[in-house]
Amino acid sequence: MATLCGSVCFLFVIMVIASSPAAVAAVGEDIVEETCGQCSRSNPNVNYTLCVSSLSGYPGADLHGLALFSTMPLRSALATIASEARVLRDRAPPGSPPRSCLDSCLEVFRDAAYNLGNAVAAIESWRYGDAKTAMSATTDAPVTCEDEFKGQGMATPPAIKARTKPLFQHGVISLAIISLL
Ligand SMILES: *[C@@H]1O[C@H](CO)[C@@H](O)[C@H](O)[C@H]1NC(C)=O
Repeated sequence: MATLCGSVCFLFVIMVIASSPAAVAAVGEDIVEETCGQCSRSNPNVNYTLCVSSLSGYPGADLHGLALFSTMPLRSALATIASEARVLRDRAPPGSPPRSCLDSCLEVFRDAAYNLGNAVAAIESWRYGDAKTAMSATTDAPVTCEDEFKGQGMATPPAIKARTKPLFQHGVISLAIISLL
């Protein structure tokens, strides 16, 4: 009887430890740090600190899950830069060159949101090559917008420039993670 309890109790303890939130969190942090480390070694543009902080809320995710989660900050970064462009566009005089550039930028950001949706759908169906293509297009959006202004010999509005970096940084992280799959 003592022997039976010995092995049964031992099993029970193992099960409790394995399913406790602390154990899951420890595993989750490991894979996030490991993945972000791998990404920043393979691409110097990957910000390790940002990578870990943006994925640390998803303990227990596997690499496939992390790739999906890494797309989420892009959604809000894209919404932010697009709403800034809309505000500036509405302030620009109708028919003026800045207004036409901002209209083009809004179109670019709409396409980028569409591409981001495609990237998510591609990850979900394990089409990682397609996911990379769509994510690259999403990440390039701010540069394409800046090119609209450059083409007209104008400087990109600082409010737009300021919102370019987060979009680019999260895009680089997401691309690096998809590349590991
Ligand atoms: C990396 O990300 C962290 C956290 O968001 C930020 O404080 C830091 O400035 C970033 N570093 C670079 C080089 O962008």
